[in-house]
Amino acid sequence: MFIGKLEFKNPVFLAPMAGVTDMAYRILARELGCALVYSEMVSDKGIKYRNVHTLDMLKTSAGERPLTMQLFGAQPESLAEAAAYVESLGCADILDINMGCPAPKIVKNEEGSALMREPARAFAIMQAVRRAVKMPVTVKMRKGWDSENVNVVEMAKLAETAGMDAIAVHGRTREEFYRGHADWDIIAAVKQAVHIPVIGNGDIRSGQDAARMMEQTGCDAVMIGRAAQGNPWIFRKISEYLVTGKEPPEPDMAERSALILRHLDMLLAYKGEYVGPREMRKHATWYTKGLLHGAHLRELFNKAERREDFVEILDQMQACDFAAGKCMN
Ligand SMILES: Cc1cc2nc3c(=O)[nH]c(=O)nc-3n(C[C@H](O)[C@H](O)[C@H](O)COP(=O)(O)O)c2cc1C
Repeated sequence: MFIGKLEFKNPVFLAPMAGVTDMAYRILARELGCALVYSEMVSDKGIKYRNVHTLDMLKTSAGERPLTMQLFGAQPESLAEAAAYVESLGCADILDINMGCPAPKIVKNEEGSALMREPARAFAIMQAVRRAVKMPVTVKMRKGWDSENVNVVEMAKLAETAGMDAIAVHGRTREEFYRGHADWDIIAAVKQAVHIPVIGNGDIRSGQDAARMMEQTGCDAVMIGRAAQGNPWIFRKISEYLVTGKEPPEPDMAERSALILRHLDMLLAYKGEYVGPREMRKHATWYTKGLLHGAHLRELFNKAERREDFVEILDQMQACDFAAGKCMN
């Protein structure tokens, strides 16, 4: 599939996730076979006022390209300005507009999924951003605001008219947040309604899920969110499954442990000695999900403050084959 002139032979993408898909995680996802990574959502106002934290989020590295930088906002001019700034930095290959975030603090500012309630404003935003930059522009939407207002098909047509290069659809309404099951039929309906590429999103946890979504909806690519938390190997799994019909084995403890340490080292380098380890705790919790004795490991990780603390816990993790439930100690 193509987004603008960028070709993707492997249709497996990482979903944007605030607090998760920072540079460190994106690099790991790319290394493990993810074809396109999305940034966390970045505020247009933060860019306008050159907020230090926001500008940090615009830092990217060669190892993660191609990369989509996702912006959120409510005003066409402000989003267009932010988009032009991102393009001028050359830090991303694609720009994405967030029309899916359900968080109350976002929605109350008419941002994120609130735009699903305002097609005219959403259209003006897409047009303004399209005009402001030369790079590909995409949009990520939900099914609609609530069950009474399911309008993603109409919104997708507006996106096509506004010149969007692709559209990602999460098959839940705003009202549903992350509950229940994503509606894949609505993704199929969007695919039927537009000629631009459609990226299907919601509840993909395995290669079989990805293949099923592509078959059921006809979508051009799939986007993985929660199942990728603490599990960048999912990209290798799904990519291989889509080609061979078989999933590779789970990573062994040595691979798992080496990757966790690399993740920590990148967080230390990018976020420093204080923030790095604290942010790593959350990822470590996800990395140990489903492992036998995972609860014990999580307790230890949650107290870890320095690199050495993590190394010690990882040594323990390797000494005990937690996955197999065999502990040599
Ligand atoms: C912790 C978290 C943060 C998220 N942040 C964003 C975001 O910044 N922008 C966005 O468009 N969607 C965001 N999402 C939604 C995901 O991109 C995705 O649409 C959703 O999780 C459904 O996909 P999944 O079932 O594969 O998780 C977030 C989801 C989670 C769980």
